[in-house]
Amino acid sequence: MCSVYPREWPEGMARASGQGACGVESRATDAGVAWGVAPHFLDSDWRFTTEAAISIVNSVQRRCPPNGRVAYLGCPTVAMWHAALCGDIDFVLLDRGHPGIHGLLEAGRIPARRFRPYDVCGDVPADLCGAFDMVVVDPPWYLEYIGRFWLRSLQLLRRSGWLSIVEYPGYRRDKQIAIDSLWRTMVGGMKHVTREESLSVSYDVPAFEQSWGGEVGFITGSRSAYRATSLTTWKVAKRGGGVDEGFFRAAVALPVRCWSSGRKVDIGGGHYLRCVCDPSVLLKGVAVRPHMWKGLRRPGIAELDAIIGWSTRNTVLMATRDARPLVHSTKDLGELCRGFELRCRSRAA
Ligand SMILES: C[S@@+](CC[C@H](N)C(=O)[O-])C[C@H]1O[C@@H](n2cnc3c(N)ncnc32)[C@H](O)[C@@H]1O
Repeated sequence: MCSVYPREWPEGMARASGQGACGVESRATDAGVAWGVAPHFLDSDWRFTTEAAISIVNSVQRRCPPNGRVAYLGCPTVAMWHAALCGDIDFVLLDRGHPGIHGLLEAGRIPARRFRPYDVCGDVPADLCGAFDMVVVDPPWYLEYIGRFWLRSLQLLRRSGWLSIVEYPGYRRDKQIAIDSLWRTMVGGMKHVTREESLSVSYDVPAFEQSWGGEVGFITGSRSAYRATSLTTWKVAKRGGGVDEGFFRAAVALPVRCWSSGRKVDIGGGHYLRCVCDPSVLLKGVAVRPHMWKGLRRPGIAELDAIIGWSTRNTVLMATRDARPLVHSTKDLGELCRGFELRCRSRAA
């Protein structure tokens, strides 16, 4: 079992785990700044704070049996800390992937053999079905994803095991009600479910919200935590070892709207612009105007049609057909965005 914890760990957590110390400690302490690239909200890249990620690894370590196996579904920060702190517990990171994860792989923070690119819209790879003692899952906060992430987590688990689910932070009551209903469907299809633990977790404020002060509405509690929620660990046993048909149908009932495709344009300083459509097609005869997208609601179809690119600082480039074109190539788009970021930064300073 792992016995190494970073120096800056909050005292209470360290005491609770009975840690020791060894040579990889310095590797652990700087793992939190290893990403290299800023998160992009079109990638649903909401990263746990270091404290949250380490407390999750700690919880995994407390439960996972000797020779046990853990799957992190959509939890790259936790996988990174797992690699730094308890590499002797077998684990796999399953994720659709985004530039941040590729940064971690390139920096060696997550060993390449530990990452399996996987999109929850597709079936679980056969060799991973029923292969894990514990699955930790943090879905994007959209219903169609939450259903699919839970479904895939159950399929990854052995006949029984631990399911650690990050809960929706509860901003919208209608969504919370739908999530609760889905949860009841899932539990109804299982042989046994018991709640074992609940941990407080929160996220680092991403640049795309900080750029316009958008994080303020999501900072709560005495600890001033950003998007505070909990990770609840359940001991579950599957009925007949499989997934209930009713839950399966409920989990995939909502179609996934894909609007985050597109190429990545490097705009420097660890930031990037994601082109929603191919600019070489879109830019013919249109003008591009940059603006800040206030709020993180998903754009409607009409808005999306006009959006060309989105940056990690929440700069949105929109196309209009009624003015002189400003940008002609992907390179120009990068230049335009860089200039815009600089203006935003100097305004904020
Ligand atoms: C809310 S973030 C959770 C990250 C976690 N808080 C962490 O710091 O480790 C959601 C994660 O799900 C992944 N993801 C989004 N859509 C996915 C999909 N369709 N299939 C698999 N992974 C997906 C994203 O790449 C992202 O890593």
